[in-house]
Amino acid sequence: MIVVDSENRVFTLHTQNTTYQMKADRYNVLLHTWYGPRISGGDLSYLIQYADRGFSPNPNELGNERDYSLDTLPQEYSTCGVGDFRLPSIEFEPEDGSRLADLRYVEHELRRGKYSLEGLPAFWGGDEWETLIIRMEDASAKMLVELYYGVLEARDLITRAVRVINRGEQTVQLRRCASLCLDVQREGLDFITFDGCHALERNLNRSPLRPGVQSVESVRGTSSHHHNPFVILCDHSADEDHGLCYGAALLYSGNFLAAAERTQLENNRLLLGVNPYHFCWTLFPGESFTAPEAALICSPGGFGQMSRQFHRAIRDNLIRDPGAGKRRPVLINNWEATEFTFNAEKLVDIARSAAPLGLELFVMDDGWFGTRDTDLSGLGDWIVNRKKLPGGLEALVPRIRELGMSFGIWVEPEMVSENSALYRAHPDWALGAPRRPQSRGRSQLVLDFSRKEVREHIYRAMKDILDSADISYVKWDMNRSLSDVWSAAASADRQGEVFHRYVLGVYEVLERLRRDYPQLLIEGCSGGGGRFDAGMLYYTPQIWCSDNTDAIDRLRIQYGTSFCYPVSAMGSHVSAVPNAQTGRSVSIETRGVVAMSGTFGYEMDLGRCTPEERETIKRQTAFFKAHYDLIQNGDYYRLSDPFQDGPYTAWAHVSPNKREALVCLVSGAVRAASPFRTLPLRGLDPALAYQVNGQGSWPGDVLMEAGWPLPMFWDDYQSMQLYLTAV
Ligand code: GLA
Repeated sequence: MIVVDSENRVFTLHTQNTTYQMKADRYNVLLHTWYGPRISGGDLSYLIQYADRGFSPNPNELGNERDYSLDTLPQEYSTCGVGDFRLPSIEFEPEDGSRLADLRYVEHELRRGKYSLEGLPAFWGGDEWETLIIRMEDASAKMLVELYYGVLEARDLITRAVRVINRGEQTVQLRRCASLCLDVQREGLDFITFDGCHALERNLNRSPLRPGVQSVESVRGTSSHHHNPFVILCDHSADEDHGLCYGAALLYSGNFLAAAERTQLENNRLLLGVNPYHFCWTLFPGESFTAPEAALICSPGGFGQMSRQFHRAIRDNLIRDPGAGKRRPVLINNWEATEFTFNAEKLVDIARSAAPLGLELFVMDDGWFGTRDTDLSGLGDWIVNRKKLPGGLEALVPRIRELGMSFGIWVEPEMVSENSALYRAHPDWALGAPRRPQSRGRSQLVLDFSRKEVREHIYRAMKDILDSADISYVKWDMNRSLSDVWSAAASADRQGEVFHRYVLGVYEVLERLRRDYPQLLIEGCSGGGGRFDAGMLYYTPQIWCSDNTDAIDRLRIQYGTSFCYPVSAMGSHVSAVPNAQTGRSVSIETRGVVAMSGTFGYEMDLGRCTPEERETIKRQTAFFKAHYDLIQNGDYYRLSDPFQDGPYTAWAHVSPNKREALVCLVSGAVRAASPFRTLPLRGLDPALAYQVNGQGSWPGDVLMEAGWPLPMFWDDYQSMQLYLTAV
């Protein structure tokens, strides 16, 4: 609920459990007054303290009044160069070369429903949303800044976006435009980020804020494996069930900056948005720029509640699932089984061995097109390789469909190999500056998606494939970071737009595909989880979580991912052992337990499994299908922290009405004389009694407080699932 006190110019956004407030003060400066547990409201500006601080300047209109400084007051959207020396939200440069932005409140507007952003991902929905737009202006440069707020009360979700409009007569260079600025007047905060590298994404890192700026960012053109555009600010004492925390996600798949600043007065500013690195956007008179959406959830009750609110909001109001309400198929992917070496017979063999085990979608991965026999060539030539698939997709797909399976295909549309017909015809379609050889990544170059003709060509190529056969799924891959970012189609003074235009270009093609193929399920991928962000989820309902399919490494990867993103978004497969990334061998049972807490599928040659393994796989797919709704749409509870190297990693899926739960556990490395242990459960109804794996009856409060006794594990990395039903 948005409450506007027009007389006092106080704007209060209430969600189910939180309250957010700002106020335009007597100088039209928009102050941030509160974000925290839900409170009744009123004007919270009494909390703001005014004092003269050395070297903190005072706005001109105050005369010699020294107690008021933009440098010390909590700002809703920080200014630049006019007296606030903390992180600026915006920076622009008119023709005189000044880089000053002094934003003052002009007006506001309230709307029912949710605003949308053209060409950008955004949360969506109906009248359960409210929108507030606050207009601010820099009077000298005649720049209008619109701050958008979307409120989804039941999810504690506040979305923010920013639109900058050049209302003057000069051309202005926009050099920075954050999506979110949050000044938090609170002591003792930690900053949590999710970091890693290829094949080991989203490791949780937590550290107390210390004076100065701490930040994570991407300058790779994608959101990256290395840092995720989701961060948390929280109390030192915050844990799964207690303490205040703020989660902030950027709906953006390119260069981002997430920075937390501890200020001279021991307050904090969080800034999240497109990275100012190599960013400069020209705004001619009348033109506007829209910064991507950011999503905020504050939880007064720890990380668990924050994550569950993000999961629900992402599932119900961000992801656009082509089969909404229907179960997504359990898939078999041939990549780890064959890599580039296959032909139609081999693919049909894999599908034939998978179908009787309950697998429903066959995905043909890399290697089916052009001269793609290794990763040295072929990207860009989206034409079936008739040596491998003599009858083309027209012959292959019906054979897969005859087995009762649907068919999916791998593509990597943003890339080009130098050894390809496309590159030979259009070398300037690859990003790269003149007289400067580009660096290669996985021996490939990046197509310039900022260019319309490139997007058009690729869209047509994708359309030709999709129209040639009955294809229900696409894995959209992207296997290198952007370097040598320079576009042959942009003038020298507009090269600072290319990184962002690239991302907008990717979004445009994906949106077009979605619109033209509404039934198509697209899975995002970037060498696994190199572009696992809330922006991509708007176009691709699921994303391959990591190229690392080792079940034990996956415990940490999926744990880190779960802080923002729901199970239904996490691409996760069982692969062969010894694992291709780690050499580790883990039982098929444990691999299944870990993979089924994601989108679930297999990525191995099932024809090579023993009869016992095949029986297990059959049981696993049947079990997953039977509990699909609970796992994919239930509430997720983390029961342990795999980064603590404890004796086990455990988590639970609980149905919204709490009448059903699935508890999953994987033990750690075994040791002799291990102690007797119990696992305290979470998320149950204390007043209900539960059967565990069909037996007994234990009250929910007992299972949560006293826990469930764990069996003795006789080997490393054993697993256990407990299925609980209310009796
Ligand atoms: C990337 C993907 C893999 C696989 C290969 C194919 O690494 O993440 O799953 O598709 O490309 O080349």
